[in-house]
Amino acid sequence: MRQRYFSGIQPTGELHIGNYLGAIKSWIGLQDTYEGIFGIVDYHAITEPYKPSAMSKRVIDAALDYLAAGLNPNKSIIMIQSLVPEHTEMAWLLNCITPVSWVERVPTYKEKAKQLKIGVNMGLLSYPVLMAADIMLYKSTIVPVGEDQAPHLELTREIVRAFNGRFGDTFPEPQTYLGSGARIMSLTEPTRKMSKSLGPQSYIALSDPPYVIRAKLSKAVTDIGPTGGEISPGTKNLFQLMSIFSSAETYGHFKKLYDEETIRYSEMKEKLADDIISVLGPIRDRRQELSLKPDYVRDLLIEGSHKAREIARETFLEAKDKMGLIYFYGE
Ligand code: AMP
Ligand code: TRP
Repeated sequence: MRQRYFSGIQPTGELHIGNYLGAIKSWIGLQDTYEGIFGIVDYHAITEPYKPSAMSKRVIDAALDYLAAGLNPNKSIIMIQSLVPEHTEMAWLLNCITPVSWVERVPTYKEKAKQLKIGVNMGLLSYPVLMAADIMLYKSTIVPVGEDQAPHLELTREIVRAFNGRFGDTFPEPQTYLGSGARIMSLTEPTRKMSKSLGPQSYIALSDPPYVIRAKLSKAVTDIGPTGGEISPGTKNLFQLMSIFSSAETYGHFKKLYDEETIRYSEMKEKLADDIISVLGPIRDRRQELSLKPDYVRDLLIEGSHKAREIARETFLEAKDKMGLIYFYGE
């Protein structure tokens, strides 16, 4: 039997190559060895300001990206978090065993608390507890995510230990699984990670057409002045992308030119654009085809959420039982 795990992405905008390389590519690579449950985590997405009218399209867009990138619904489960109420019920149980001091020291929380002008809500504080619930409900042994999620997973392990210590061995400690692109940097501000929040010029979306990919790469920041002999962050990022998207020969060729200081970044960027386009092209085509079949995608999400719920229900009842919260057996 394949071991199980849960991973997910918030439906907060277009998925980009950071999401693809940090998470989705690993999900696809692991489909034969693990049973993956892939959530579109809408309850996480509402912890920050959002537009209610945009939500339903974002959820469908995320599903299209998952499927187009290569998640196979015959091998994996694709679900919507809010359709499985055990996620929030489980989060409540875990809220009650998680000290506030643990969540207050999570770096993403501290950062957002500083940024958000309107102040933080309870959901944002409890965000990593809901994430722990997502992971624990499926007794995940690994969780493939980008590097920025490592502190959340550390907290999940602490919550697992707290639960097991108090109520008896119930959950495995999930290991963080980082893929080859654990941290892709922004094209415009290469000292920060590629992210939807830095604007569309900073990322390459999975659905960007070739001319957009070329234009974005041609403007990508490379040298930013003297770096004391160190490779500049932008150049380093382009080489990382090249090591993932291009052949070893291509990478070696440009690395040699870089070392000899005869590199022309415009040529490197053109070649990199070609190679990214040839990987993203088929994804874009499949996405286009799938977007013409909204009923298929809807049915698949509903069915996936039902399947996920069956698994989640069993674990949730086990956790409730351990916590002394089952009163009438067979109810
Ligand atoms: P988010 O877009 O924040 O919901 O992230 C979804 C998934 O993509 C998580 O596993 C992140 O760690 C991963 N991810 C997001 N941005 C990047 C990036 N720039 N590089 C690598 N992984 C990323
Ligand atoms: N916090 C994750 C992110 O922003 C999304 C997420 C929610 C998640 N629940 C999860 C990732 C469970 C892995 C497992 O990317």
